Amino acid sequence: MAGQDEAVYPLGYTSVEADRLERQAAFLNDLTEDMLRRAGLRPGMRVLDIGCGMGDVSLLAARLVGPSGSVVGVDRDAEGLNRARAKAAAAELANVEFRRAELPEIGFDDKFDALIGRLVMIYFPDPAAGLRHLLSYVVPGGIVAFQEPDLSRAGTVPETPSMAEAVVRMNLVFERRGFHPRIGASLGQVFTAAGLAPSLLGTTRMEHGGSGFCPAWLAATIRSLAPAMVETKVATEAEIDCETLEQRVRREADEIGAMVLGPLMVGAWAVKPS
Ligand SMILES: C[S@@+](CC[C@H](N)C(=O)[O-])C[C@H]1O[C@@H](n2cnc3c(N)ncnc32)[C@H](O)[C@@H]1O
Repeated sequence: MAGQDEAVYPLGYTSVEADRLERQAAFLNDLTEDMLRRAGLRPGMRVLDIGCGMGDVSLLAARLVGPSGSVVGVDRDAEGLNRARAKAAAAELANVEFRRAELPEIGFDDKFDALIGRLVMIYFPDPAAGLRHLLSYVVPGGIVAFQEPDLSRAGTVPETPSMAEAVVRMNLVFERRGFHPRIGASLGQVFTAAGLAPSLLGTTRMEHGGSGFCPAWLAATIRSLAPAMVETKVATEAEIDCETLEQRVRREADEIGAMVLGPLMVGAWAVKPS
């Protein structure tokens, strides 16, 4: 049964959303790998990946730390963890395991050389307090590395109406559920408040015209968010019009040869002081 926190998670826990997360991961993984390498993730490390979802960041980390290292992926989503386990088995990665827990008080006895996460701090009621707590699982001198979005920075240049409207609604529904759609832009403050001195790097995907992945990604995200949007009175189903959104975004971008941008993904990393 869904707990209170699970009930407010705006993307929901459907198999359609699980598929979307995997497509999103495939689109973002090289940006995440670059950030993890810059952060200093290296062979032999023990890694904790929080909010691992379908396990894609955990698997990435498992490859980077190699057989002498190990990764524990944590999430509340039991179905997601099963998918993650199946992917690890198919990839013959024996150095990764997945555990179910509610963040941030996961109650593990283990200590880790690296704490990592992608698209998860956005859901912390108090991101600095959450990060401070999770630091207790990291050894002194260990690495902390997160990649979080500024969802307000998705859009087209020049602006086109359907994408602009969808991005505003996407930001609003996260805010109305008490989450932080612009957390990426605050990661410097969040890390500093947790006693860390971060390096920061923002990256995004850009596509010319409407034929790329971004319009499909946006429309699928809005589809997952639609029930929460209706519930929080961001928009009605008719206003959201999921069925036509992808095509509208593609057409409007093509009409003016716009550049389509995904959300700004901000990487922040630091070493835990000894
Ligand atoms: C957008 S997904 C990102 C998944 C993965 N990190 C990725 O980038 O592919 C966010 C994940 O965080 C998990 N999550 C959010 N808040 C959580 C909490 N309080 N406890 C446990 N898991 C949580 C969700 O269940 C979901 O799987």
